[in-house]
Amino acid sequence: MKNDLFLRACRREKTERTPIWMMRQAGRYMPEYRALREKYSMLELCKTPELATKVTLQPMVHGVDAAILFADILLPLEPMGAPFDFAKGEGPVVYKPVHNKADVEALRVIEPDDGLTYVLDAIRMLKKELPVPLIGFAGAPFTLASYLIEGGKSAHFAKTKSLMYSEPETFSQLMGKLAEVVRRFLRAQVAAGADAIQLFDSWVGQLSRKDYEEHVLPHVSHILKDVETLGVPVIHFGTGTFHLLDLQRKAGGTVLGLDWRTPFNEGWEKIGLDRGVQGNLDPTVLFAPREVALQHAARVLEGANGRPGHIFNLGHGILPGTPVDNVKAVVDFVHETSARS
Ligand code: CP3
Repeated sequence: MKNDLFLRACRREKTERTPIWMMRQAGRYMPEYRALREKYSMLELCKTPELATKVTLQPMVHGVDAAILFADILLPLEPMGAPFDFAKGEGPVVYKPVHNKADVEALRVIEPDDGLTYVLDAIRMLKKELPVPLIGFAGAPFTLASYLIEGGKSAHFAKTKSLMYSEPETFSQLMGKLAEVVRRFLRAQVAAGADAIQLFDSWVGQLSRKDYEEHVLPHVSHILKDVETLGVPVIHFGTGTFHLLDLQRKAGGTVLGLDWRTPFNEGWEKIGLDRGVQGNLDPTVLFAPREVALQHAARVLEGANGRPGHIFNLGHGILPGTPVDNVKAVVDFVHETSARS
């Protein structure tokens, strides 16, 4: 590996500049990706290691310091017994959503070799080619449970929270099954060669502190405390989680994700300066004129103040339609502005 800046920053070592990558950096904003999608479905791309490898490598032209495997957090649901697809314009659709205890009992706690080998093959293939570290990932139990219970995306998570409140034991059983599958899957990704891991708990900011502590934290902890023993950095990501940051820290992670709602320095202090922090440029500023996007990027760097342990990223995934030139401009700007001797 030619460039290990990202890994050193995750470990809060001093680095010659701040590393940067962008969540969802491989995807629809890139013409090269859209061209492949004309020929293949999203699931075909994910399930064909040669194609997943190709898509993972596409954003390397921007000069980012890490690659994230091209896959999706929902992939383990299919072998667990909950097939889904990505419907045009609607996002994911789970064909038979989980409603009750019988549905939860029917879900299988699989081994990664049982239905997810294509992900591990893509990792092995990428490791031969990549000049930068490879990030493997999985969805966290709450975020996965929300897709399983709602059957797709949701505005209020009403079905998910209603199962959590009305049948806490069933909910806990579901969270436990998901946590064990994710723990095994992340372990397998590290064994296949992933240099770091990110756990996406994208929607957990919907919960109060009390609900997070009671219904989520033990399950996230079950995953992270184990994966942390493997010696690779673990990034624990969520959005809208200012009120949960200390609890997320308690659940685990070498690096905590911060979204754009919180000024970077304030968020880092809340997390604790003895952990790394990843973030937190608002993905929508990439649609603004270049100077404006760069001003916002400068603000993030000022908030981090050159402290070891900052991984520059967006506060959430890059949006479809984002101008590619602005992505490249922000990468160059972060590299140049953060250079230190
Ligand atoms: O570049 C990368 O970051 C790697 C690949 C990746 C994808 N999804 C590819 C993808 C990663 C890390 C994800 C994570 C993911 N998937 C999350 C957590 C991160 C987040 O943004 O909060 C979630 C919640 C999902 C579930 C999911 N997958 C949704 C809601 C959708 C549809 C809406 C959307 O944002 O595109 C997907 C589809 C998906 N996953 C696409 C890609 C490139 C778009 C597929 C296409 O139409 O080509």
